[in-house]
Amino acid sequence: MNQLEKLSSSNQENYQRYLKRMTESIRNSTKGFLPIMARQGMNILDVGCGSGVLLYAIQEENPTAKLTGLDLNAEAIQKLSEMGGPWELIHGDFMKTEGSGYDTVVFSSILHEISSYHEDPVLRFTKKPIADAFLKCREILSDDGVILLRDGVMVPEAGQNEPKVISFVNPEDSRWLFRFQKDFRGFDHTDIDCGIKDLGDGRFLAGQGFLKEFLSTYTWGEESYEREICERFGILTRAEWIDALTSAGFSIETVAEAKEEYEKYLSARVRIAEPDGTPYRYPYMSIIIKAQKR
Ligand SMILES: C[S@@+](CC[C@H](N)C(=O)[O-])C[C@H]1O[C@@H](n2cnc3c(N)ncnc32)[C@H](O)[C@@H]1O
Repeated sequence: MNQLEKLSSSNQENYQRYLKRMTESIRNSTKGFLPIMARQGMNILDVGCGSGVLLYAIQEENPTAKLTGLDLNAEAIQKLSEMGGPWELIHGDFMKTEGSGYDTVVFSSILHEISSYHEDPVLRFTKKPIADAFLKCREILSDDGVILLRDGVMVPEAGQNEPKVISFVNPEDSRWLFRFQKDFRGFDHTDIDCGIKDLGDGRFLAGQGFLKEFLSTYTWGEESYEREICERFGILTRAEWIDALTSAGFSIETVAEAKEEYEKYLSARVRIAEPDGTPYRYPYMSIIIKAQKR
């Protein structure tokens, strides 16, 4: 059992709540993405299918496609198979999958997990496991096969440590910021500045790379905290995503960035401003890419 399987099975109730919230979020955030995704291909693999939200959605859009869901989490696969559905389910690690001949492979919010939970701690939170996943994907895709991904996106390097000011609608929530600073494991191998300056009036100054990652944990609340502090959502910048795919032999067809549900969840809970007081525009949290095997 790897670290991710242990975390999920040690607290089933939390894992189910986490999947439910993720499902709600992905339903909203993929509205634009799903139709492109779902009508693409007839032999589709959904890697890290979790609660099956995409399997259901793709099936609705593309009822004649042959669908396969793969997940490392035995309980997620068990639950999905109890619910039944016109798809094949595989319990296992994507990196070890032996499938082949898929014309579409979907990675929705899983590549950052493949990196964050890599068995070699030195490779965790780095690009290498993602590059390896793309090579694996090439192996199992048919000629001209398509990869569709949706995942976190890192602030471009030049702006990573640019200071921003955050305050909380409920002032007690500022404890989350310090708790995250202490517990988060994902910045060990980077130059992200994790300092927080207490401005003394309920406002705190911190770098935007750090803040963005904090927000992607804070958004999901207590039930997923234990898990979120092990995962870095933004591992690659937009340019690095494109570079990793092209280096693995894919040509990029579409790239879009999204702020997703974060703005909706967060606008009632936090205020972020530039150091001079002007309002801060929420950063793009996710990237959606469609690329084709060359
Ligand atoms: C954040 S959830 C995303 C679920 C779903 N794709 C979505 O977009 O809502 C990530 C899922 O990937 C699975 N996962 C993580 N690493 C995996 C791996 N190496 N192989 C297969 N599944 C994996 C997890 O068990 C989890 O169910």
